[in-house]
Amino acid sequence: MRHFLTLQDLAPEELNWLIQRAIELKQIQKRGEVYEPLKNRVLGMIFEKSSTRTRVSFEAGMAQLGGHAIFLSPRDTQLGRGEPVEDSARVLSRMVDVVMIRTFDHEMIETFAAYSQVPVINALTDDFHPCQLLADIQTYVEHRGSIQGKTVAWIGDGNNMCQSYINAACQFDFKLRIATPEGFEPSQFLVDEAGDRVELIRDPKDAVKGADLIVTDVWASMGQEDEQEQRMRKFSDYQVSREMLDLANPDVLFMHCLPAHRGEEVSEDLLDDPRAVVWDEAENRLHAQKALLEFLLCQEDS
Ligand code: CP
Ligand code: NVA
Repeated sequence: MRHFLTLQDLAPEELNWLIQRAIELKQIQKRGEVYEPLKNRVLGMIFEKSSTRTRVSFEAGMAQLGGHAIFLSPRDTQLGRGEPVEDSARVLSRMVDVVMIRTFDHEMIETFAAYSQVPVINALTDDFHPCQLLADIQTYVEHRGSIQGKTVAWIGDGNNMCQSYINAACQFDFKLRIATPEGFEPSQFLVDEAGDRVELIRDPKDAVKGADLIVTDVWASMGQEDEQEQRMRKFSDYQVSREMLDLANPDVLFMHCLPAHRGEEVSEDLLDDPRAVVWDEAENRLHAQKALLEFLLCQEDS
């Protein structure tokens, strides 16, 4: 049994296989073919934070694969009333075939996974968002081919997405330049572990020079709403604009996991620029996670 708590839970060959499989599943879907390897399988979806893309892509993905998904909110589960994570994991994993969790502390999903009899998928914690990375890499590969050896510039907050990009730089073998305001750097442990694949650069204009892909995210993540105003001031030099993209390679792509705040981390018009592939990126959450669900659930059948 395998979990997917970070990208490091899969080997590089497995991740590359998954990306190719996501591209295939997308084609199967577009051709209108019915493919239902997860008939009678059930996904439990624990959401302790809001979501549009993650919920809809997992729920639609399970339905398309012939299975079913159950949305579980803390407002109406006993987990939300303080039933221990360990007990919830033991109970739920006797009833469903796979569990997806979006929560605050990364430790919560580690604990859940330790007591679960079925695979657990990280659908975002304060520290990582690995499912989004599967979609991002799929999107890059579809538009430009392999990301190996390319240069990616992360601009903005050293948050959960940034930290998953650090993991991705190691697993998919690309260079990552990270430009954050002082005090908003990602975990130094992760940066050190990544060695020369990751470089911290203060000035965003320096970071994007020669980049093949530029990525950003909101300045205040879910759970940081109180810091919004203060962050707006500290991040003001870190807005990604068309002019910033002009400093990168001519075939640069721009990605953002969404939701985006126009006029904050992205200029008003950036998402309409032809170099922005954010809608493909959002769609690929569906295909990449279908590949992940198939990988986690079908390998035990074979
Ligand atoms: N990118 C992403 O995870 O979006 P949601 O918060 O809408 O799920
Ligand atoms: N960093 C953002 C990502 C949202 C998908 C957050 O955690 O809120």
